[in-house]
Amino acid sequence: MPRPVLRTPLCDLFGIEYPVILAGMGPVAGGIQGPTATAELAAAVSNAGGLGVLGGAGYGPNQLRAEINKIRSMTNKPFGVDLLLPSNFMGGAASGEMPKDPRELIPAGTYAAVRKMAEDLGIDWKTAPEEPMPARPRRAGGGMSDDQMEVVIEEKVPVFAAGLGSPGPFMDRLKANGTKVISLVGNVKNAKRVAAVGVDVVVAQGTEAGGHTGRVATMALVPQVVDAVKPTMVVAAGGIADGRGLVAALALGAVGVWCGTAFLVANEANQPPIQTQRILAATDEDTRITKLYSGKTMRNITNPLIEAWDASGIQALPMGLQGLLITDLVYSLRKAGREDLLMNAAGQISGLLSRTRPAAEILQDMVAEAADIIANRLPPAVKAGA
Ligand SMILES: Cc1cc2nc3c(=O)[nH]c(=O)nc-3n(C[C@H](O)[C@H](O)[C@H](O)COP(=O)(O)O)c2cc1C
Repeated sequence: MPRPVLRTPLCDLFGIEYPVILAGMGPVAGGIQGPTATAELAAAVSNAGGLGVLGGAGYGPNQLRAEINKIRSMTNKPFGVDLLLPSNFMGGAASGEMPKDPRELIPAGTYAAVRKMAEDLGIDWKTAPEEPMPARPRRAGGGMSDDQMEVVIEEKVPVFAAGLGSPGPFMDRLKANGTKVISLVGNVKNAKRVAAVGVDVVVAQGTEAGGHTGRVATMALVPQVVDAVKPTMVVAAGGIADGRGLVAALALGAVGVWCGTAFLVANEANQPPIQTQRILAATDEDTRITKLYSGKTMRNITNPLIEAWDASGIQALPMGLQGLLITDLVYSLRKAGREDLLMNAAGQISGLLSRTRPAAEILQDMVAEAADIIANRLPPAVKAGA
């Protein structure tokens, strides 16, 4: 079969064949190290004609550099690196007043409530062994994201994606390197903010999305962001996993799509088999937004622990501290073999997915279906035009 043709201005901007981007997805919590969107997955998507983006958020600077080099050894096509830039991971702000042990910032009552919640579900509570000081928030005048950004800048990666927060403080150096910059947003206000600092592409991510997500649905968000940031290019995210979603995104004024959940069931994705199976088994109603795992609203395949947390009314702590709060919980779940209660970020489109396959096939099918819809399958009234 000849390769389908589907080009938009996004293809020219990045030098890619198809307007499909692999979302730079970080780690899930099943005991497997590294992000879901690994170097292997990113390279596979780039080699297939899309833009592969590494989920770099969980890597320390040295490992991040090694993974960037790994992608370069697996493809000569453009690729991207995604990091999270929330303000409390960055220099200044909260980090200046850090106590020696950040665990002191966790209210004892909150810790006890989490413990009780787990024990009520029959989990035997255990205390995680002492680990080296957590990476974030960590020192005055600098933070995890600053250190990671130095690597992104030194490595002159083709594309940088800010998954949370604004890349504003780094724009001059990124632009000087020729790096194209993507920024993810979930509402019009933040879209305007990142467009104003000169990002090349705004990803408008609807609430359907897996992982950290906002409150506005993709269908409503994309056209509003398109109008608000014109002429900046907009890419749609949240709930897109096939050619129908891709065409819909283009109809809403986007120049491409940023897909996470669709590629979570790729053979090259890195997550424990039980989590892939839960996505494949999920229906459209089986995800839920919770602050349990990170302190920020995150869409997951739901489970009894998420439901207990939401029912408990416990106030989540800020990102970073919430991770510390649940360190013993995660350790206890692992020891109890309850991987089904760990973080399993995925979007509402999970219900559409029924099998694992190579990333290249997922991408090719999506593009071929979209090209076919545009050429042959739109209703006659749409084709007739004015
Ligand atoms: C397991 C998982 C991990 C994610 N981690 C990140 C991340 O580290 N950085 C980021 O920018 N977005 C992350 N996201 C959100 C994706 O970038 C993307 O916006 C979302 O998956 C798009 O919606 P979809 O899942 O419906 O395709 C994650 C999503 C999932 C499902």
